[in-house]
Amino acid sequence: MQFFLDTANVESIKKFVSWGVVDGVTTNPSLIAKEGVSLEKRIKEIAEVVDGPISSEVIATDAEGMIKEGREYVKWHKNVYVKLPMTPAGLEACKVLTSEGIKTNVTLVFSSSQALLAAKAGATLISPFVGRLDDISEDGMALIAEIVEIFKNFDIQTKVLAASIRHPRHVIDAARLGADIATMPPEILEKMVKHPLTDKGIAAFLADWEKVKSLQ
Ligand code: G3P
Repeated sequence: MQFFLDTANVESIKKFVSWGVVDGVTTNPSLIAKEGVSLEKRIKEIAEVVDGPISSEVIATDAEGMIKEGREYVKWHKNVYVKLPMTPAGLEACKVLTSEGIKTNVTLVFSSSQALLAAKAGATLISPFVGRLDDISEDGMALIAEIVEIFKNFDIQTKVLAASIRHPRHVIDAARLGADIATMPPEILEKMVKHPLTDKGIAAFLADWEKVKSLQ
């Protein structure tokens, strides 16, 4: 399973890249706004840090505008994936950009029917939002299960990227279900590394070592 970071914060990306656990990065307009930077500048900075797909989301809401932005984004770096919303215009843009060999990530997917349509339009990745479904008392992980099953049935090549991940359990559940990728905020990766028994074990080893340190 691949791990993407769902952030536009370069320092944080650098930190987890140094752990060797980052396969790519996803951004969205809210994450860029949080950083208060230009999209182009930030995507280029991220590309210097990560050697993997970097999703850059379109702002236009019409197909023509999305296609124009997408063509521009991919000039910034070879690893840029154009993130398109799951709308009729997004599907149209997906079809055109895919036919030009441009990689896409269809986002804001909340149903299997949307996932199937995005795959048919040629999406490289689709992003079902797990946490936001859970937020409204639906079952985000059930959606991942359904999409993975359908894509397997028809050998669909579009990759399932579990997005809107809220805690480590989401990552594990998505992995068990066979999602290709999980994109997560840095805090989740931070939580994934932690275990109280690991900390306790290190403390015990160091305390015991103190007793024989002078003999070394
Ligand atoms: O980048 C898309 C997605 O991961 C956003 O997550 O937490 O805003 O629902 P969230």
